[in-house]
Amino acid sequence: ELTRYTHNEYAPVHPINALISTNPFQGYTSHLGLAISACIFGSSFQAGFNTGVVNSPSEVIKAFYKEIISERTGSDVDASQVDVLWSVTVSIFAVGGMIGGFSAGYFANRYGRKGALLRNNAVVLLASILLGLSKMGKSYEMIIAGRILVGINAGLNTGVAPLYLSEIAPVSVRGLAGTLNQFAIVLGVMISQILGLSKVLGTADSWPIVLAFTAVPAIFQLFVLPFCPESPRYLLLHNGDWDGAEKALAWFQGSDDVMGELNEMKNEEEEMSHSNQVRILDLFRTPELRTPIIISLVMQLSQQFSGINAVMYYSTEIFMSADLARETAQYATVGTACVNLMMTFVSALIMDRAGRKTLHLIGLGGMWAFSTLLALSMIFNDDIGWLKYVSIVSVVMYIVFFATGPGAIPWFFVAELFSQSSRTAAVSLSVLVNWFANFIVGLSYPNLESSIGKYSFVIFVFLLAFFWLYTEFYVPETKGKSTEEITAMFRRNYTRVGVNDDDPNDSIAHPFLSQNETSPI
Ligand code: GLC
Repeated sequence: ELTRYTHNEYAPVHPINALISTNPFQGYTSHLGLAISACIFGSSFQAGFNTGVVNSPSEVIKAFYKEIISERTGSDVDASQVDVLWSVTVSIFAVGGMIGGFSAGYFANRYGRKGALLRNNAVVLLASILLGLSKMGKSYEMIIAGRILVGINAGLNTGVAPLYLSEIAPVSVRGLAGTLNQFAIVLGVMISQILGLSKVLGTADSWPIVLAFTAVPAIFQLFVLPFCPESPRYLLLHNGDWDGAEKALAWFQGSDDVMGELNEMKNEEEEMSHSNQVRILDLFRTPELRTPIIISLVMQLSQQFSGINAVMYYSTEIFMSADLARETAQYATVGTACVNLMMTFVSALIMDRAGRKTLHLIGLGGMWAFSTLLALSMIFNDDIGWLKYVSIVSVVMYIVFFATGPGAIPWFFVAELFSQSSRTAAVSLSVLVNWFANFIVGLSYPNLESSIGKYSFVIFVFLLAFFWLYTEFYVPETKGKSTEEITAMFRRNYTRVGVNDDDPNDSIAHPFLSQNETSPI
């Protein structure tokens, strides 16, 4: 019964024809679309929105900080004191992300995927009240508290939403569903950057409305998600609820013929009966889990240490250093968000055909090439005037390649590599590591800039080269494979898969190791 899930029909066709001629929505139903929308626009969106929201209105909010501190102390405040408070306000979001990400597994098991997503809205509604009333309450502390809460909300969302999506989507559209998670994150970044423009709501009076807007997606989700069922995998494999799982599957697929999926889950259940619920440390202790968890963590690091958030947080400054005026630079930043969004959509459409590994490699390779060009043009900018245009084009192309693969894949790849008993532990750790790396980049890039200036992007050039090599040699392809097939690859003392990515039985030994040795990484 597994044959319907391995889609080898693309193999003999020319790769380009395969990408454009096959239907990317095969297996997609309107019910599935409703559940995906409720999940991504109510959850994933929030992570992006609160990443981008502090970008454009930073000047007016900093002026508010200055005003209330002067009012409280009765004396003028130093700009550097305000800058410190502002960088705490910005980066504490990622600390919240770490807390939320780490607890994602716990809540996803305790309340279910849908249950955890729904409850998470209470956190964001409270945050929205604090943020929205902070100006009236003359309190920057309310903004900082609100930022921790939206961070916790974002961390939980980036853990639980990809879990829900990859568990409700049939194998043929699992990559599409997972990539739509990133699509909504990028949409959130873009909407927040637009709302925050000084011509829109980023003014001295209206900025609290921009910050409080985060309640809107939460309310949307509270109305729509209750109509969608819980993840069938969770119902069956966690609660032992066969009936519920069957009904949920039938709802998602719009048909009562769900025996194929139920059988697959049954196999997973049999496998689970030999193992207990896995905890985080067990991921490293159990040989067959060690390789996939290290792959998952390196994938998260490849996303963040590609330097993407240096661009997300500081693109306006990067554009200004290429001689664009502030307002033009702000519009250029919104322009990059549009490019990011469009390319993520294209990536969603081809993800289940082109494959995760291929798109991740193309993405990292392109980012490497254009970060090299960006670094070179920043270094020689003073001598050669037209190089500033090369910097701008490089930033745009760097984002195009980020959106091709590294933006979306790490978030859902981890859920694909593990079976039910270990999936939530793996997701928790991976999401924690992602937010931690995000925090490090956000906090250190301004220091890097001020210490090594034009050379700051060179670090990412080296890191990207490392991550490309790692992906080429150690990351397996998961497209079109069931959970069972994927975990079986690791059980067979998996070291490297790469000859025929469409054949789940085709694993070959690592090129540098003998048959009995295991991979050093
Ligand atoms: C990914 C990253 C996030 C980044 C965003 C930009 O979702 O995880 O940190 O801000 O992409 O598109």
